Amino acid sequence: MSRIAYVNGRYVPHMEARVHIEDRGYQFADGVYEVIAVVGGRLVDGEPHLDRLERSLTELDMAMPMARRPLRVVLAETMRRNSVHDGMIYLQITRGAARRDHAFPRGVRPALVVTARRATMPPDPDAIPGAKVITAPDIRWRRCDIKSVSLLPNVLAKQQAIESGAYETWMVDDDGHITEGSSTNAWILARDGCVVTRPLDNAILGGITRQTLIRLAHGAGVDVVERAFSVDEAKAAREAFMTSTTNLLRPVTQIDDAVIGNGEPGETSRRLLGLYLAYARGETESCD
Ligand code: PDD
Repeated sequence: MSRIAYVNGRYVPHMEARVHIEDRGYQFADGVYEVIAVVGGRLVDGEPHLDRLERSLTELDMAMPMARRPLRVVLAETMRRNSVHDGMIYLQITRGAARRDHAFPRGVRPALVVTARRATMPPDPDAIPGAKVITAPDIRWRRCDIKSVSLLPNVLAKQQAIESGAYETWMVDDDGHITEGSSTNAWILARDGCVVTRPLDNAILGGITRQTLIRLAHGAGVDVVERAFSVDEAKAAREAFMTSTTNLLRPVTQIDDAVIGNGEPGETSRRLLGLYLAYARGETESCD
């Protein structure tokens, strides 16, 4: 089946989808994006993702290219045209195409691109393998809370992981605390039995999976504490895991050379993944 992309008001074959060479996303990374999971033909946390999209746009003084309701129609139509029942929606908004000049152009319409692809999700919580992560200095800018397409440090961090035989890189701030992964939020089950993840600030992206999992965990009586944790604390933790739209919850069984717990995905990680999967499948509450 050939894929279809939505580009500035038109549905076009994916292979022929184009934006202008002077699109500011291409020249300046002047744009924002969202990745939203599709499970059973429904968006998982569609509204929170669109809330974050609006926030990212506001922070960059950009307007939504269309109101939320027609935007949701475009998302649904892109899913439909690509027969995506389980998979991913990618949505990108840039400041538009204009003669190259750092300052914002006047009177230019933002550019909107939406693609969808199938993915096999979600996995069985007991079959999910553990992942290795490495640590590296966080070299990003001070507005990591904005979901900008400017992802070069994240790309380099992920590539460093792959070249080290790892799955992800957890980035470390100047105080020795873990900020987040290249495209995931970082969590541990600390020695005191609390699930810990870094609080929201400008050093991390406020993950939607993170937000939902905190709520689900509290609802299930699992304590979650939002505080910074160091690389040393993570290496000594009982369990560790990462969350994102594309990974859901992925247990971490090794950080650099330190094996976490007994080297297998931990019980709490698997339990939380089970809670999240039930939620994403719409079994416990509506999440669209
Ligand atoms: N990445 N931190 C960073 C830097 C991210 O890029 C992402 C998501 C997350 C997790 O956010 P969420 O739970 O809302 O997916 C945290 C997306 C999936 C990506 O770039 O592909």
